[in-house]
Amino acid sequence: MSEMRGENASVSEAIHRLATRAMDHPWTASQIASALASEFACLMLHSAAGASEAADAKLDLTGFVLGRRVAVDLVEIDLVAVDPDHRREGIGRDLLEELIASEAAVGVREFNLELASQNAAALALYSSAGFVVVGRRSRYYPDGDDALLLTRTLEEAPMDQTAASAGHRRNE
Ligand SMILES: CC(C)(COP(=O)(O)OP(=O)(O)OC[C@H]1O[C@@H](n2cnc3c(N)ncnc32)[C@H](O)[C@@H]1OP(=O)(O)O)[C@@H](O)C(=O)NCCC(=O)NCCS
Repeated sequence: MSEMRGENASVSEAIHRLATRAMDHPWTASQIASALASEFACLMLHSAAGASEAADAKLDLTGFVLGRRVAVDLVEIDLVAVDPDHRREGIGRDLLEELIASEAAVGVREFNLELASQNAAALALYSSAGFVVVGRRSRYYPDGDDALLLTRTLEEAPMDQTAASAGHRRNE
């Protein structure tokens, strides 16, 4: 598992390749590149090489979570995808938990996302990761499916000094 932010084109291409393979309605390459270029992007990657930080490993992605900070304490999760050949191995849940832990350490307390109501696998994943359904947008998607609005709120502030000082810097 590794975290990165920024403009690395090869990572952006690898994410687009996996999104195209794993998702029914993936973002375009330019949507993904533009999301990654934002200073507010938050990203967690999982590769076949496990916890390697090497660039080569990032090109062999087995999963990713891409989100953005919309406020100092709020992250919107936009995309979650796991390679179809590596589903039900715990990768999706690990990615979510790693992203949440990483963002919690810099002061994020709430995580929101939208999900097609027919996407049973994703709903099961998010529920198992502590998300709760807080709303529904009727016929939100082009195919007529409703969107479910899910959220996870963290109860406690981080106690360690590193996290506290990182949160302080973000609020300045
Ligand atoms: C949704 C998705 C990310 C799940 O990834 P994953 O790595 O297979 O999920 P995990 O192995 O971490 O599963 C964690 C839990 O979620 C639930 N879950 C995941 N997939 C499920 C499925 N197909 N059916 C039922 N429950 C499922 C289970 O509770 C599972 O725990 P368990 O295996 O111990 O029973 C993956 O199916 C995917 O990429 N789907 C296409 C993209 C997508 O729909 N993304 C979400 C909207 S952006």
